[in-house]
Amino acid sequence: MSARIAVLAGDGIGPEVIASAVAVLQAVAEGFGHRFVFEDALIGGAAIEACGSPLPETTLAACERADAVLLGAVGGPRWSDPKAPVRPEQGLLALRQALGVFANLRPVKPHPATLAHSAIKPEVLRGVDLMVVRELTGGSYFGRKERQADRAVDVCEYSVAEIERVAHVAFRLARGRRGRVCSVDKANVLETSRLWREVTTRVHQTHYPDVLLEHQLVDSMAMHLIARPAAYDVVLTENLFGDILTDEAAMLAGSMGLLPSASLGEGTRGLFEPIHGSAPDIAGQGIANPIAAILSAALLLRHSLSLHREAACVEAAVARVLAAGEHDPRKRPKDLGGSAGTEAITRAVLAALHAGIAACLHPEPAFPAIPLRD
Ligand code: NAD
Ligand code: IPM
Ligand code: MN
Repeated sequence: MSARIAVLAGDGIGPEVIASAVAVLQAVAEGFGHRFVFEDALIGGAAIEACGSPLPETTLAACERADAVLLGAVGGPRWSDPKAPVRPEQGLLALRQALGVFANLRPVKPHPATLAHSAIKPEVLRGVDLMVVRELTGGSYFGRKERQADRAVDVCEYSVAEIERVAHVAFRLARGRRGRVCSVDKANVLETSRLWREVTTRVHQTHYPDVLLEHQLVDSMAMHLIARPAAYDVVLTENLFGDILTDEAAMLAGSMGLLPSASLGEGTRGLFEPIHGSAPDIAGQGIANPIAAILSAALLLRHSLSLHREAACVEAAVARVLAAGEHDPRKRPKDLGGSAGTEAITRAVLAALHAGIAACLHPEPAFPAIPLRD
């Protein structure tokens, strides 16, 4: 097949990990006989430097004519002055909104080889296989904002339609998994959460009686996620709660450098990015873990290009690299306590990919395809 992919590397470690993900996509194209056309575009701090805007019109146009968008990370101390007129993060939020990608999927499935290198006990991690569905284009991120010298306002607003559409994604996903959805809110305090609970309950009763739905308050969920993470299947939540809970969930997988994400809307075009940020503390040192970006490229293959076999092949290559590092710190990424840098891990994934292409003809998909529509 032929596909056009917009590549927005961004700031900090963004360009470092995106170079790895693009190399993997190029290897997939070569190995499976596809043609991917990559179009680089600026976003975030890099775009502010170049043209004063965190999301230039040329970037949005490149994304709109692409079949999928691959993004690194935006932001950094250079642009973090609270008085700055524009911030890199505004570019990312505007892009998510412009592309209409309201459902952000963040799979969390610790690899057996990383269990011993997590801060959490292996027996707690065994069997963990979560799919967090984070609402991405609503809530306090996009509500009215106001700032005066002595007060500030961020309005949190959700409509029934916004809750319904993301709830459908979560329930449909659950049907292809273990059939359970845990909806997370703060319904004991927030009006938006009470609406969230009402709407998710109605969508469940009307359309998905075969799926098990439970509700959990976000504060206790933060605790349960660490205490008994294997008890959950699909976790559905609003924008801000999902942001916070998935950084926490990254510790189940072992590190921020491992978790990918897919942001999807009504069509097939998605935005694919690691859940981590620009990591200014390690940028430029060649030690960023590229696996989250590589796994985001795998999600791109699956969800935007419907290349399921290719996606599974990339995931299998990453799994082999993680397995090789289990007992050998020289082959393990630095953020998991090893000494392998970005280049070494990328080379290892590419080698495993080349070796595994034949074996990828009939793989087990690690994550099922999402039936977004009936
Ligand atoms: P961060 O995710 O950038 O870093 C948190 C910690 O995780 C750091 O210690 C970092 O070194 C480590 N880490 C992150 N990714 C890693 C990787 N691939 N390999 C190894 N270690 C990794 O979060 P932060 O420091 O709070 O934020 C830094 C900047 O990034 C901020 O400006 C923030 O707004 C931005 N940010 C952007 C995105 C995005 O573009 N999607 C996401 C989160 C944060
Ligand atoms: C993420 C990030 C972003 C968010 C920031 C950079 C706007 O933390 O993708 O998780 O909060 O959504
Ligand atoms: Mn985040």
